[in-house]
Amino acid sequence: MSILKAVRGTRDLLPPETELWNYVESTARSVFARYNFGEIRTPVFEDTQLFARGVGEETDIVSKEMYTWEDRARAQSEKAQSLTLRPENTAGVVRAYIEHKLGETGQLQKLYYIGPQFRRERPQKGRYRQFYQIGAEVIGPPSAGSESPLRDAEVLEMLASLLDALGISGWTLNINSVGSASDRPLYVEKLREALKPVVGQMCVDCQRRAETNPLRVLDCKVPEDQGIIDTLPRIADSLDEASTAHFAAVCAALDACGVPYHRNHRLVRGLDYYTRTTFEFTHGGLGAQNALLGGGRYDGLSEMLGGPKAPGIGFAIGEDRLVLTLEAQRAGEHLAELADAYLAPMGTALDAPALALARELRREGLRIDLGDGSFRLKKSFESGNKVARQIVLFGEDELQSGILTVKNFSTGEQTKVPREQLVAMLKST
Ligand code: HAM
Repeated sequence: MSILKAVRGTRDLLPPETELWNYVESTARSVFARYNFGEIRTPVFEDTQLFARGVGEETDIVSKEMYTWEDRARAQSEKAQSLTLRPENTAGVVRAYIEHKLGETGQLQKLYYIGPQFRRERPQKGRYRQFYQIGAEVIGPPSAGSESPLRDAEVLEMLASLLDALGISGWTLNINSVGSASDRPLYVEKLREALKPVVGQMCVDCQRRAETNPLRVLDCKVPEDQGIIDTLPRIADSLDEASTAHFAAVCAALDACGVPYHRNHRLVRGLDYYTRTTFEFTHGGLGAQNALLGGGRYDGLSEMLGGPKAPGIGFAIGEDRLVLTLEAQRAGEHLAELADAYLAPMGTALDAPALALARELRREGLRIDLGDGSFRLKKSFESGNKVARQIVLFGEDELQSGILTVKNFSTGEQTKVPREQLVAMLKST
């Protein structure tokens, strides 16, 4: 029979690597808590329309990367529906914001999420079909200050602090402003005009984008097109006064708290909902897929989904890429945490009392690996040496006398310890 494997672009995460994932997630949770964010969990699949309207029909994500299916009706009362595995989480968060009328609280909503996303992309290092994002959104009515450049700068400063807290070194923050819903169309028109005489010399993707979504031309990575792209008009020169002032205020606040950034005129991002500030943190160690995280402002998204005016800003970190970066930085370090002790019952009659002892030790907060009474002593030692710092021998004599033998694997030292002192002894070594 053929052996079944995980589907292309998906993978299993196993210990000890999952320790690193848990470390990343718990660090993110504690940093987000310090900025007073709360967690939101939205469904993994949504109505296809949400992404078509929110992310944009013309984007690569919606036009070719979504996992979409027709969900059949199971009863007369149900309708068939087109559903999609979420390719990103911002649209789902804004849907929930509208559905639960969170705007009526009058407060800024500061929400974070951690979970899987799905895109049918060509798998390669750092790019998977099921991948994980750690993201956050700040959204609310304008009266709550949701449009303020301070929000943008605070989110960026939080990200810099999170990467520092995780020990990620060598990141670069790229920022740009793509303008508001009113000044962007003017720029797009200018770009269209500028592209007309030159687009024939560009790659086929650019020729298509020049028609459907000219901004995306700025994203092109084809080396032969770069010379032409450099001559195209810059968004910064088309921003109106309000957008220019907004962006200047974001930069000034970053300067004030010492977060370094690089103004990248070509950063437009691949989702249609962005307005004004957009950003990406890149890392050189990642190779072709060098975007560690991306985000920006989406002041019109709520209205696009039928909701009230609710400007917002957010980001999503590619957790897979963050873990890859950490792994590369910590190369050679032993990831697996060893148990405090391996408890070895010496004979199957000792299995049940050993479980009771393990229960007591675990309740004291010790990390205990429980062996098996059917193992010979040699096998217990070999197994214990792989997973724990020390071994506790538990035989009939020990049960009667209440004195246990503990051997430390790294020093080779063997000691007799009375049961009452076992917890303290295991904790101290
Ligand atoms: P995005 O740039 O599409 O933005 O994705 C954010 C991050 O997710 C990327 O920078 C990358 O690290 C990671 N990522 C994307 N696709 C893959 C993949 N196939 N495999 C591994 N990692 C991947 C968004 O998703 C927006 N929702 C971010 C946002 C939140 N904007 C505002 N709020």
